[in-house]
Amino acid sequence: MQSLERPHVLMMSEITVDGKLTLKKGTSSKILMKYMDHATELLLHETRAKCDAIMVGSNTIKIDNSFLTVRYVTGKSPLRVIPSGRADIPQDANVLGPDAPTVIAVAENAPRENVRRLEEKGVTIIRAGQDRVDLPRLMHILKTEFGVHTMMIEGGPTLNWHMLHYRLVDEIRLIHLPFIVGGADTPSLVGGMHIDSEKEMISLRLKNHYMCGTNLVTEYDVLYPDAEAGPEE
Ligand SMILES: NC(=O)c1ccc[n+]([C@@H]2O[C@H](COP(=O)([O-])OP(=O)(O)OC[C@H]3O[C@@H](n4cnc5c(N)ncnc54)[C@H](OP(=O)(O)O)[C@@H]3O)[C@@H](O)[C@H]2O)c1
Repeated sequence: MQSLERPHVLMMSEITVDGKLTLKKGTSSKILMKYMDHATELLLHETRAKCDAIMVGSNTIKIDNSFLTVRYVTGKSPLRVIPSGRADIPQDANVLGPDAPTVIAVAENAPRENVRRLEEKGVTIIRAGQDRVDLPRLMHILKTEFGVHTMMIEGGPTLNWHMLHYRLVDEIRLIHLPFIVGGADTPSLVGGMHIDSEKEMISLRLKNHYMCGTNLVTEYDVLYPDAEAGPEE
């Protein structure tokens, strides 16, 4: 598979000891985020300020109503990128506000009325993919047409899995929160994987670990198996 030119991508997440991103399915991760040390909130916002763009899945926007801006440190807010196949981002979503530029990536067949409503909010629409957002294509457009060289993704698990599946993630940085929340269907770092054999495991190389305030932070490079072959469709 020929890989398209794309931004360097960092996946960053707050995560419990049992690998969960929130208290239970359908609840906002903002509840967990209240327990981050202030030093790691600063780290998160410093990382945002260093990136050209930040991306989260449309369901995170619906549940968390994130701003995705730089607030706790001095710096420029990155371009906000939300993949939403049907362009059904709520009209009152914070990410549609004026605090930073926003791109909504939609499928070619997204309902026109939804797209029009988003355009009225002043966001930029990227069409990539026929029935669903084609993430490799989106990454290529962001690099070549929007000058995005570095991008962070902040979940949720559905987007995280698809980005890993298409080998679009280069690094992972985790903020470990000292809690266990349990729950078989509670969102964890990566959803939808269901691998059949160890050959499909995605290997990581731990490259750094440190305390940031009272939170452990770990940093990994992503090592995809058989990098030449690309993902199976
Ligand atoms: N702790 C943390 O760091 C953290 C961070 C973020 C989120 N969260 C939590 O994660 C949960 C939400 O996660 P989630 O897995 O339900 O949703 P998600 O990953 O935020 O969003 C997934 C949605 O994105 C849209 N999308 C469009 N194109 C896509 C593509 N090519 N690949 C993948 N997704 C695409 C799809 O909706 P359409 O079909 O409408 O296009 C898809 O259902 C919330 O509870 C939130 O609080 C936690």
